[in-house]
Amino acid sequence: MCGIVGILGHTDVSARLVDGLSRLEYRGYDSAGIALMNVGGEIAVRRSVGKLAALKAELDAAPVSGKIGIGHTRWATHGGPTERNAHPHRTRNVTLVHNGIVENYAKLRDELEAAGVVFQSETDTEVAAHLLERLLAETHTPPAAFAALLQRLVGSYALAVIFEGYPDLIFAARYGSPLAIGYGPLAEDGTAEMFLGSDALALAPFTDRVCYLEDGDWAVIRTDRVQIFDGTGVEVTREIVTVPEATWSVDKGPYRHFMLKEIHDQPQSIARLLASVADTHAMTMKPFLPDLDFSKIDKVTLVACGTAYYACHVAKTWFEEIAGISAEIDIASEYRYRKRIHAPRELVIVVSQSGETADTLAALKDVRGHVAARLGVVNVATSSIAREADHVVDIEVGPEIGVASTKAFTGQMLALLSVALKAGVERGQIDKAHLASLVQDLASLPRIMSETIALEGRVSEVAQEIAPARDAIFIGRGLQYPMALEAALKLKEISYIHADGYAAGELKHGPIALIDRDMPVIVFDSAGPLQGKTRSNAAEVAARGGRVWHVGHDAKGGIQTPECPDRVLPFVYAVVAQMLAYHVALAKGTDVDQPRNLAKSVTVE
Ligand code: F6R
Repeated sequence: MCGIVGILGHTDVSARLVDGLSRLEYRGYDSAGIALMNVGGEIAVRRSVGKLAALKAELDAAPVSGKIGIGHTRWATHGGPTERNAHPHRTRNVTLVHNGIVENYAKLRDELEAAGVVFQSETDTEVAAHLLERLLAETHTPPAAFAALLQRLVGSYALAVIFEGYPDLIFAARYGSPLAIGYGPLAEDGTAEMFLGSDALALAPFTDRVCYLEDGDWAVIRTDRVQIFDGTGVEVTREIVTVPEATWSVDKGPYRHFMLKEIHDQPQSIARLLASVADTHAMTMKPFLPDLDFSKIDKVTLVACGTAYYACHVAKTWFEEIAGISAEIDIASEYRYRKRIHAPRELVIVVSQSGETADTLAALKDVRGHVAARLGVVNVATSSIAREADHVVDIEVGPEIGVASTKAFTGQMLALLSVALKAGVERGQIDKAHLASLVQDLASLPRIMSETIALEGRVSEVAQEIAPARDAIFIGRGLQYPMALEAALKLKEISYIHADGYAAGELKHGPIALIDRDMPVIVFDSAGPLQGKTRSNAAEVAARGGRVWHVGHDAKGGIQTPECPDRVLPFVYAVVAQMLAYHVALAKGTDVDQPRNLAKSVTVE
């Protein structure tokens, strides 16, 4: 949801700003821009519509240089993706970039227009720039004006600001949108190059020493000093941490797309997480989450958005079947606003790859004090959700750059399955022998995922047949019902084919009216006691002229998957769904890694 970079350098920073932005492009790619200040304190801005490549072309045609700069990559909220709406926004003395939403912008805009301000864009951000300009005229000093601005803004923001005539400082603020300050190595004169970024990934080429601002913090960054103030204006110290090297890599390697690389990463990412949670020699679970005791928990509520929500959906069955614990699921944007009945011994689990999704974070904050414990399952250990939660599982799958979630989804499922196993043990639902057989199932996952990825050729053949369709349906039962939902989401978001997932038994209650020759139906035909029923539903489709592809171990003519224990079948279907969506998108020529209208990290409601 928009990415921010800022650099206070010893040399020209223009190329480094663009480099930082390229690592944040996953957060939005409607437009991009940079502003650079020369030694005399004058600011030059370059902005362009579309991906970063357009900004690079603009900079080649009209280069700018300077030792201080800020940059932005945008996911449009207020105002379409035009050059005028692109950041940075500039007034006479103020130039700023913003991530988030200024919720009271209409009121502020009316106030400023009444005072004679003429707006150039339709954005909420521009009001912040004009308001800051006015506050600067009133207070005469950038720090006082900036502090006053933050008092007036309602909503969420990460802000970076430079002031004309002040060639030695950048102002930054965070409320609800992440922002990190990077510390470069100390030079002989005692100064250091300083950096600002929406995440540590953006700063990775420059420094691994990072400090995360807390909500309400604002900072004045100079090369010889950083001052951080909390929401009450008191100067505070925030810890500087060293970011592990493993979180830096954003390399496609030999793959054509990040999504394809991330699909292929899964046997390793799953093996890595497995090593953290299970002992596959002793066939038992490792003592992870030591402070979370499931003998004191009677109810689990799982909350998330999008693909992460489907991980919760499948985990509901695991918690109920393995741990004998009542489990509910909800979509974060609904959960946070409805009247809820909490149980005294309830655990709320929120699941989020980025750890920054606004609705999921709000749901987590909302239940503080109302439930026994709150667990965050994240892929970014320093994220807002990780810091807010009482307990954290890091899925450790490494940066996921493709907008469509792949390895994070299977990591989330494995993390939740492991928590369900821990719950089963602590609640006395699983004896040693049963646990050993369950851990054995987990141990087979990396191999099974490799075998599934090896089906890519066959999946691609099926994808060519599905690619011309306008709509598609996925059906499944039990654990495969959420996989059908996930498969439909994956297909729509990267190939733009309208797709729905249904519980197989629901088809005849309405959706079967859609069936004709042009409607591909993909049947997640997993072995087990319900297989016959799923096959009957598929036969009902075929009897109405529908085209059916089966996916299962004995799915002759369809996609034949490796044999594996029922419990871990969702991992197989997840990988097939990812590859199918990928190859349909490839056949249609859509933008796989950066599909239209989407962004990776959704920090607005
Ligand atoms: C779909 C996808 C999204 C995310 C959702 C939540 O492929 O990636 O549906 O799952 O936006 O994001 P996180 O997990 O970061 O909270």
